[in-house]
Amino acid sequence: MRKRLIVSAAAGALALLLSVPASAAQAGPGAAGIGDPYYPSAGNGGYDVSHYDIRLKYQPATDELEGTTTILATATQDLTRFNLDFVLQVKEVLVNGRTAAFTTSGEQELVVTPARTIAKGSPITVVVRYADKPGEVKRGGYSSWRRTPDGGVAAQEPESAAWWYPSNDHPTDKATFDVSVLVPNGTQVVSNGTLSTSQRPGWIRYNYRQAKPQATYLATLAIGKFDIRQDTTPGGLPVITAYSPDLGANAGAAQASVERTGELTDWLSTIFGAYPFDTVGGYVPNVPTGYALETQGQIFYSPAQFARGANTSVVVHELAHQWYGDSVSVQRWSDIWLNEGFARYSQWLWSDHENEGTAQELADFFYDYYPANDPFWSIKPGDPGADNQFAGAVYDRGAITLQALRNTIGDDKFFTILKGWPTEHKYGNATIQQFQAYAERISGKPLGELFNTWLFTPGRPAAGTNGIGAAPAAASLAPGVTTGKHPEPKSWKKIQETNNVHEHKR
Ligand code: TRP
Ligand code: ZN
Repeated sequence: MRKRLIVSAAAGALALLLSVPASAAQAGPGAAGIGDPYYPSAGNGGYDVSHYDIRLKYQPATDELEGTTTILATATQDLTRFNLDFVLQVKEVLVNGRTAAFTTSGEQELVVTPARTIAKGSPITVVVRYADKPGEVKRGGYSSWRRTPDGGVAAQEPESAAWWYPSNDHPTDKATFDVSVLVPNGTQVVSNGTLSTSQRPGWIRYNYRQAKPQATYLATLAIGKFDIRQDTTPGGLPVITAYSPDLGANAGAAQASVERTGELTDWLSTIFGAYPFDTVGGYVPNVPTGYALETQGQIFYSPAQFARGANTSVVVHELAHQWYGDSVSVQRWSDIWLNEGFARYSQWLWSDHENEGTAQELADFFYDYYPANDPFWSIKPGDPGADNQFAGAVYDRGAITLQALRNTIGDDKFFTILKGWPTEHKYGNATIQQFQAYAERISGKPLGELFNTWLFTPGRPAAGTNGIGAAPAAASLAPGVTTGKHPEPKSWKKIQETNNVHEHKR
């Protein structure tokens, strides 16, 4: 990947030398990647998107997808050429109303050459027309569009956009979205935001609007048979839930969990502050996968998350991401602790709330659970590497880090930070370093050593560091036993079953 980036940069430089008149010396192609060290080809340089209008027609029987996506953007440099991230077959590209030349390169680059150079700061309207069978389009043997018996689903991290719409596919370029999908009568569509429908003979159009800034990987699309329910919370927030009618034995447990979305959103709002989006919800399609994903305002759940009965813990995890991950998103993918550490910790708070074990008990139990020489402790949650971006350590050691912080600065400051941070960076992006600086500002304590120890240093910290893993109190041990490991909290197994994500690297 890095190699490809260098090659295209060199080709760009060459094009610059050969073709650009001296008077436009700064004009050139936008970069093929936005500069994320984990994923060099993710996103693109040279422009900033403000809105996606995605208009699709889909035939569930054949997986035929036809689309017209209109992208509104602003040039951040004088642009002779720019890239979009896309893998489907393109028929036509227009830039500012004029036909543009296009070609493909690398795994997912659609390279667009407009008829005229676009001046820095000026608006760009890109129309991309396409048609393909997304389930058959593989990159590295892999398709992000998952076929279901009655349609298909796009829900993947760190990327899935390229299988249904062209984009600047990186969390730092957020935009608003309109997704409008025409499907045969009897088929339903799930996407992000507020929903309206319109009918025409034999067909129905589903219109979804996400009016709050949204990262590209948090846009989701599911087409198939769904029982869609619309309601509002007591506070007036619209709730949309949807279930495949074919969830079989998991149907009851799925509904008993996801139907609590409104109530759990209200509970999390007491901890994290006002819910940041216009709608909340969740959907459970008929897919064989095991994970859930925090798609914005409309969470994707695999039926397998409910195979052992109701699981409000996973709902809390994904809802927590609406603040930590969706409203405040990673600046680089290496900042993933800002998402997963906090989502996991919110499950610990829910466990405490349900009297199934406190966050301290969970942290202590984890500390013992992995012996000091276990590979678990070799991963740095603060910079896990692309291959370990979703390793257990990012979640569990990540949550331990927050308990260590809480022990060090006290509950008052800790919960002030949990609520203040999502406001500080609402609808934006942030780094772990910014979080540390924020926590230092609110607590008035230097925290470099704490963050360094728990997030950036391989190996298990000594027992008792920041109040984690100290010998259990005698009172918690069985009668007559004077030393031993911390007891297993009741919630532990269920929490471990939430998103043990190893199957889906890119
Ligand atoms: N962010 C998801 C969660 O913890 C987990 C996840 C990581 C995931 N990679 C994924 C989900 C790929 C779907 C696909 O909630
Ligand atoms: Zn998560």
